[in-house]
Amino acid sequence: MFTQDDLCATYGDPWAAATVPFMNNAAPTMRAITQQRLGGADELILTTKPRPAPLPTEVLVRVTAAGVNPVDWKTREGNGMAGVLGEPPFVLGWDVAGVVEEVGFGVTTLAVGDRVFGMPWFPRQAGAYAEYVTAPSRQFVKVPDVLSDVQAAAVPLAALTAWQALVDTAGVSAGDRVLVTAGAGGVGHLAVQLAKHLGAHVTATASERNHAWLRSIGADDVVDYHDPEYLTTVKDIDAIIELTGADQVRIASTLRPGGIIVAVPGGVSAELGAAATAAGFRTSAFLVEPDGAALTTIAGLLSAGQVTVEVARTFPIADVAKAHALGETNRTRGKIVLEVAR
Ligand SMILES: NC(=O)c1ccc[n+]([C@@H]2O[C@H](COP(=O)([O-])OP(=O)(O)OC[C@H]3O[C@@H](n4cnc5c(N)ncnc54)[C@H](OP(=O)(O)O)[C@@H]3O)[C@@H](O)[C@H]2O)c1
Repeated sequence: MFTQDDLCATYGDPWAAATVPFMNNAAPTMRAITQQRLGGADELILTTKPRPAPLPTEVLVRVTAAGVNPVDWKTREGNGMAGVLGEPPFVLGWDVAGVVEEVGFGVTTLAVGDRVFGMPWFPRQAGAYAEYVTAPSRQFVKVPDVLSDVQAAAVPLAALTAWQALVDTAGVSAGDRVLVTAGAGGVGHLAVQLAKHLGAHVTATASERNHAWLRSIGADDVVDYHDPEYLTTVKDIDAIIELTGADQVRIASTLRPGGIIVAVPGGVSAELGAAATAAGFRTSAFLVEPDGAALTTIAGLLSAGQVTVEVARTFPIADVAKAHALGETNRTRGKIVLEVAR
C-alpha cells in the first residue's frame, strides 16, 4: 500500500504542486481560446498557454472537440459562471471529448490512449476551449464506439443536465407525464429521449419546423410556443423540465397538484414560488454537476442506440466567435461543437 511518503518520493509534494496548477515556465505549450475581458464574442482570442500536467488521480486529455453551451456565452459576458471563475483571463468551455495523453498517480480506471468525454470541474474553470485539459479521472467516461469525437463533445453537459433534472431532481418514473420546454435545444432533445427511456409520456414545446423531428426521437406530443394558446391542451403534468427561463408561472399551470417544475435556467422566481404555494405544486432550482456514474449510464444508452445526439453545426476552434453568435440566436436544433485541430 502506498503511503504519503511514497507519493512524495514519486512526485515531490503533490499538495505543493496543487498550488501551481499550470506548472512551470518550462512546460510545453498549447493553443487555447483565452478571454482577457468580459464582453462580446470578439473577446475570444486564440493564444498560447502552458500545457497543464496531471496531479495524482487526474488525467491529461488531448481535446479533439469541445461542446458549446449557453453557459459559455453567458459567462463570456459576465453572467453564467463568471462569478465562479472570477476576473479574466480565463478559458471557457466545459464539454470535452478527446484522448487520454497522460495519467497521474492513482488513476486505475483510464489509460493512455482511451477516448474519453466529460464535463470536468463544473462550475469551476475547465478550459475546454484548448488543446489540453487536466481533471479528476472519474469526471471522464470512455466514449462509446458509435460516437464520433464531435458527437461525444455534444453530450456531457446537456445530457447530464437532462438526466439529473429528470431522475435526481424530479424523480420521473414510468407512466409519468413530462413536459420539456425548448425541446429542440441541446438539453431539450436529450431530455425528451431520456424521459421516454424512463417510460414517461412526453410533451415538448418547439417551433413548428422541429415538430416532426421531435416526434421521430420520442416526443408523444409537441406544441408550438408561438401560438398564444399553446398550453391549453397540456394538463395533468407530473414533471416539467423548464429550459426557457420565461413564462414560468403559465408553464407551471399545466402541473397536477404535487407535480414539480425544475427551473433549469435562472432558478425559481419569487412569482413562481408564490404560485406553487397557492396551487400546491413543487419547484426546484437546478445546477448540473460532474457525474461519472450518470455519464456512464448515458454512454450505455447512446451505445445501444436508445438515445441519439443531434449536432447542428461544427466550427474550427479559431471560429469560436461564429459558434457563439449562432448559439446566441437561441434557435439551434441540438448542439454546436468546436473542432480542436492539432
Ligand atoms: N442550470 C443548469 O445547470 C443548466 C444546464 C444546462 C443548460 N442550462 C440553461 O438551459 C437553457 C437551455 O439550454 P440549451 O443548451 O438546451 O439551449 P439551446 O440549445 O441554445 O436552446 C435552443 C433552443 O431553444 C428553443 N427555444 C427558444 N426559446 C423558446 C421558447 N420560448 N419556448 C420553447 N423553446 C424555445 C429553440 O427552439 P425552436 O428552434 O424550436 O424555436 C432552440 O431549439 C439555457 O438557458 C442554458 O443556459 C442550465
